[in-house]
Amino acid sequence: MPLTVTVGTQWGDEGKGKVVDMLAERADVIARYQGGNNAGHTLVLGDETFKLRLVPSGILHPGKMCVLGNGCVIDPEVLIAELDELEQRGVDTSNIRVSGNAHLIMPWHRIIDADSELMLGRLQIGTTRRGIGPAYADKASRVGIRVQDLLDEKILRQKIQTALSVKNVLLRKIYHQRPIDKDVLTEATLRYATRICPHIADISLLVHEALERGETVLCEGAQATLLDLDHGTYPFVTSSNPVAGGACTGLGIGPTRVDAVLGVAKAYLTRVGEGPFPSEAEEPHRTTLRDQGGEYGTVTGRERRCGWLDLVGLRYAARVNGLTQLAITKLDVLSNFETIPVCAGYELPGGKVTPHFPSHQSDFHHARPVYEYLPGWQTDISSVTTAAGLPAAARDYLRFVEEQVGVPVALVGTGQRRDQMIVMRETLRAA
Ligand code: IMP
Repeated sequence: MPLTVTVGTQWGDEGKGKVVDMLAERADVIARYQGGNNAGHTLVLGDETFKLRLVPSGILHPGKMCVLGNGCVIDPEVLIAELDELEQRGVDTSNIRVSGNAHLIMPWHRIIDADSELMLGRLQIGTTRRGIGPAYADKASRVGIRVQDLLDEKILRQKIQTALSVKNVLLRKIYHQRPIDKDVLTEATLRYATRICPHIADISLLVHEALERGETVLCEGAQATLLDLDHGTYPFVTSSNPVAGGACTGLGIGPTRVDAVLGVAKAYLTRVGEGPFPSEAEEPHRTTLRDQGGEYGTVTGRERRCGWLDLVGLRYAARVNGLTQLAITKLDVLSNFETIPVCAGYELPGGKVTPHFPSHQSDFHHARPVYEYLPGWQTDISSVTTAAGLPAAARDYLRFVEEQVGVPVALVGTGQRRDQMIVMRETLRAA
């Protein structure tokens, strides 16, 4: 498929990095279209572990073009730290391109993000406190500073001065913080500019030309469907559009260019931060899932809340993303359970059972899971390499998901390593 979008179908942390890393082998361009360093991908290559936040997961494949689209928000300090680390570890970063239209995360965004959460108290969203929401808010208010502003010292100075004339009042009066020194910030940002400017490019044109040459483009969604600003569990969402449609606006491509949408789902479910979670597991299963699955945040180290696969959410993800295939990750984590609950419907207040994701937040907040109990396989599957090699109960589990969601499973993850992925059906194909 010349242009494939990979999207998280749950609340993030589905193991998209590993799926993208695998598919990147056959892609020419790997493009992130939204989010910033709130994302976190753990990639295991041989004995080495890489934790990436901003740079697309394809970077570990030499020679691939790795791009950050206009829909992303870029913390220049984080981008440079990531470039430095990759280079120190022998990874070539010369093929990284950043859209000039992407917005910069500035120091006041990080302060406002963290302090707004504190002020919300018990009502907080549980953000990563990386300044993501405030940066997108400034973008929507048309007062943001963009990556392309780094190219022109005069414009950059002016923009920082204008922004600080408002932000420093906010910082002082609302957040009771010290104002940010204009000169210190400007000099630091100019130093970042020297490092970032060689990577700035017209990403829409780059992707368009790659497709015209018959190359393969893999669009990498960060976060996930239920964290989407418009389609997720608002307000417990991120501030961008991780859904597949976000790839069009976030890279500057038309919807007719998208050939396939691969949804990545964990074989169970996790959530970071606050908000309702109908299929959250009871103890001791919650802790077992967390320990077996290593469910701690890549970015923040926070414990992830753990529960059972929610097919109501997955059907919804299939709908809003137009999924053509599924990748089910971490199936091995379920190997020790005698029976595995799967949430097939929600019981709403009043007793009605629905297979559909509630459009009204109160219904979602009060939804109770209706479980089907599937037999477990209780065998180690971490070295299985073919569909036929899986225990019958594991194959039945996957078939149940396919039937319930109406989307075929193409990939199945059985462990952390790159080679622990069963190919059930062909996915990304060279054009
Ligand atoms: P923000 O994106 O930092 O504003 O956080 C908003 C919400 O999205 C919070 O509930 C975060 O925990 C969640 N979130 C953001 N990025 C990720 C991610 O990569 N994985 C899982 N949750 C995330």
